[in-house]
Amino acid sequence: MATASEIAAVGVIGAGQMGSGIAQLAAAAGCAVLLLDADPTALSRAVASISASLRRLAAKGQFSQAACEDSIKRIRCVSTVQDLRDADLVIEAIVENEDVKKKLFVELDKITKPSTILASNTSSISITRLGSATKRPSQVIGMHFFNPPPIMKLIEIIRGADTSDEVFAAVKSFSERLGKTVICSQDYPGFIVNRILMPMINEAFWALYTGVGTKEDIDTGMKLGTNHPMGPLQLADFIGLDVCLSVLRVLHNGLGDNKYSPCPLLVQYVDAGRLGKKRGVGVYSYGQKSSSVKP
Ligand code: NAI
Repeated sequence: MATASEIAAVGVIGAGQMGSGIAQLAAAAGCAVLLLDADPTALSRAVASISASLRRLAAKGQFSQAACEDSIKRIRCVSTVQDLRDADLVIEAIVENEDVKKKLFVELDKITKPSTILASNTSSISITRLGSATKRPSQVIGMHFFNPPPIMKLIEIIRGADTSDEVFAAVKSFSERLGKTVICSQDYPGFIVNRILMPMINEAFWALYTGVGTKEDIDTGMKLGTNHPMGPLQLADFIGLDVCLSVLRVLHNGLGDNKYSPCPLLVQYVDAGRLGKKRGVGVYSYGQKSSSVKP
């Protein structure tokens, strides 16, 4: 198994909001990155946004123009899981659905070299269960980045029941190589950050749904009243309302307390395709299509 400094090739699966940012970080840290998505348009969007982001950082003087162009060249888009066979570390950032993730882990287990570490960027799903779907549970780990990955300073590392000390140590120092601060969570639904954050976001939806306040008053209240940089409804839009709903369902099913039951308004927004900033409309509109669902 590769140590953190030996991790040279990183596979990233899912080129959406999170996967594209994770690919950018790994490339900027000098790794060869293999980026895979089921949707080819997601790959081209990701390459365009990574290139623009790296060039912006170079223009600000964070690194040289040459280093920026080298980082962009280190990212290769691929179209099958088999293309990841030589990766030292694979980071999965696909849809937040346990069955879909398990299927992918089974496939990765079959095709990657025996030493490859398999990490999931899941927001809430059990790492122990993802590991159990493979024949290498000691090499499966949660590597939970925050949105947007190049900016947010935290990685929450989740050890499954069988994750080895060596794999934990390698992923912890690799995360530090990406410039991040690490916290370690036990493998319980939602881990540390989303266990605390998602009930707050859900409560903000309940406040909106029951007419306690307007969306602007709820967000301004939490920004100025609790010194959060962004209100909970705006933050939910940035995370993706589909992701918030999936995490709440994992909390509700896993912890069995009705306080995690998703607010009907959040469910309705997701049903209507109002998934947040990535779709141009969620609780707020971001200059694209609107919808008939009104808070
Ligand atoms: P997204 O919807 O922006 O991107 C997901 C991408 O995965 C899409 O491009 C989709 O085409 C691709 N995909 C789906 N199934 C696939 C498969 N079987 N094989 C290959 N590609 C597939 O979602 P986002 O926000 O990037 O979230 C991805 C993961 O990261 C989820 O597990 C989510 O819970 C987690 N996460 C999300 C955060 C957020 O703030 N949005 C923060 C931290 C973790």
